[in-house]
Amino acid sequence: KEQTIDHDPASKGDFEHYMLKEIYEQPELIRSLTQYYFQGEGKESLEEATKLPMKAVNISACGTAFYAGLVIKDYIESKNRVRCFADIASEFRYRNPILDKEELAMFISQSGETADTLAAQSMCKEKGLKSLSIVNTEGSTLYRDCDVNLMIRAGVEIGVASTKAFTQQVLTGKTLSEVLAHGGIDDELRNTLASRYSLLAERVEQLLDNTKPIKDVADAIYKHKGFFYTGRGAYFPIAMEGALKLKEIAYVHAEGYASGELKHGPIALIDEEKVNVALVGEELFEKTVSNIQEIKARKGLIVSIGPKNRYELKEVSDHYIELDFEGLGDLAPLYVNVVNQLLAYYIAKNLGTDIDKPRNLAKSVTVE
Ligand code: G6P
Repeated sequence: KEQTIDHDPASKGDFEHYMLKEIYEQPELIRSLTQYYFQGEGKESLEEATKLPMKAVNISACGTAFYAGLVIKDYIESKNRVRCFADIASEFRYRNPILDKEELAMFISQSGETADTLAAQSMCKEKGLKSLSIVNTEGSTLYRDCDVNLMIRAGVEIGVASTKAFTQQVLTGKTLSEVLAHGGIDDELRNTLASRYSLLAERVEQLLDNTKPIKDVADAIYKHKGFFYTGRGAYFPIAMEGALKLKEIAYVHAEGYASGELKHGPIALIDEEKVNVALVGEELFEKTVSNIQEIKARKGLIVSIGPKNRYELKEVSDHYIELDFEGLGDLAPLYVNVVNQLLAYYIAKNLGTDIDKPRNLAKSVTVE
């Protein structure tokens, strides 16, 4: 069924939950970012961001924003070859980190009001570092306290489990990394990024147009008693984010693990009750498939999410969500992340939880 998006943030429109509406908003938001940063109001702050000291980058954030930070770290290190650290803000603020004024302090937050992230920022400020935020809420405390703010332009996010903010945080970090690598903001880069982001938006749209394969998997696995999300490289933070979504809204135990690390302990937990949601990228494909085989041999149920038409993956999987990665390059993890969002959503729906307001959670944690 065609679902139209009502742009009034207070309205769910045709959607049963805000979370689902926010998942569906992603293609449009992904497309809007290059216009904002290359031709609109965001250009000035993006330019300012490139002038900040960046001998190294220290990212701190909480929850989903922290996982976005890990993906951004991957972009900055691989594309810019700048050393980048990513910390959970509640750890960073207390561990007396080694910091230098030539380094950048980067904070990622949807609300801009998370207490631990704010404390991490004020510590960095005291130590004389410049602060850059990747933030959704204009005028928030983080926004006011940072030297430069890169807005993620996600609009109001109501679902407690963050979805569209994650995608926009990662893409904003990606845009900064690309501008730094290119050496400035110009039409050539705008065109390249606009077409790459459009391709991602298109693939996400195709996924959202037909969610039946994901629903079917959710129907088949929702009664299972433990989920291991696994991935390598940028898919590792996506695995942790996927597991977090499931924990938050479905109240089932889920862990995100590096594919190659499972054999160092957690494999002891694998039996027919456990599900391995294996996120499989093009890189290190064979190695990741052999990690899946190790789980399969212990009777774990395999749900793989990876590139389409791969016989090796089909062979080893109980359920195989096939995706078209063609041309996406390092944006493919964001595409996979939308599958994880939907999978968590449909599992939670089957379990009958309060998806938009899960128990024990707050949208913004303003206390320590
Ligand atoms: C809370 C929310 C999470 C969110 C985290 C960080 O725990 O439940 O969904 O990721 O805070 O929030 P922020 O607003 O700083 O991104």
